[in-house]
Amino acid sequence: MAELNYSSYLQTETLLSLQKTQIPETADRTVVLAEHFFIVAHQSCELWLKQALADLSLARDLLSSPCHPADGAEISVELLQRAAELLRVLHEQVLVLERLPLRHFVQFRPYLGTASGAQSQQFRVLSRLLGDDKGEGELYRAFVENAAHQGCTVADVCRLGITGGGLHRVAEALLDMGNGYWRWKVAHLGVMSKMVGGQQGTGGTSGEEFLMRRITLPFPELRRLRGAVHAEDLAPSPA
Ligand code: HEM
Repeated sequence: MAELNYSSYLQTETLLSLQKTQIPETADRTVVLAEHFFIVAHQSCELWLKQALADLSLARDLLSSPCHPADGAEISVELLQRAAELLRVLHEQVLVLERLPLRHFVQFRPYLGTASGAQSQQFRVLSRLLGDDKGEGELYRAFVENAAHQGCTVADVCRLGITGGGLHRVAEALLDMGNGYWRWKVAHLGVMSKMVGGQQGTGGTSGEEFLMRRITLPFPELRRLRGAVHAEDLAPSPA
């Protein structure tokens, strides 16, 4: 068997052959390069998303496994924090497209046909894991299950704060991720609006208005229960 090296290990030849522009090669070089930039931005999002989904799925499984709920919570914190960091990277990555010159985008956009980010399977899986402001996702349900196995409720976790141990850290990591997801959606809307304004999306939606409605803050119950701690009057009375 051949000795591994950098390119055989990472399969760079295959990886770097995957940026196939649709605009004819005869087009202006700057426009071909702009489409290449557009493809790289999307592909790198999908790649980081692959890692984030694997981390989140394992975190969900560890949280819902009834064997060692406390250990599951502890390990899942590491995975959730990593996924939250990856959402930060995704946020940065969508912003690079602000450097896509409009005059170039106008020329290659017709070649995208009906291809649209809204068809991303991985983003769909992410929204099932995180849920939205109307319904809880798989991660939150696993978190509630884990708390129940440890004999407490999410309200207890919110009330206990740092003394709640692993479960408190899970709650914090979930919210970091939820806020990261929200930031991605806001940044994406900003880029989209800068690039196509009130035009329809290639996927056939109204574009701006559609995306505006889809900006949500996941983990509504956790947010509500944390808010309720204020109403519980735990603070010592002023002297
Ligand atoms: C110039 C940059 C971009 C523009 C103009 C743009 C435009 C749009 C538009 C108009 C939609 C609504 C669906 C439609 O009708 O097509 C959409 C949805 C979406 N796009 Fe983009 N997009 C851009 C960059 C990106 C990037 C880099 C990603 C990352 C992979 C991405 C992922 C998505 C996702 C996941 C949705 C669905 C959002 C949801 O359902 O809430 N987009 N985009």
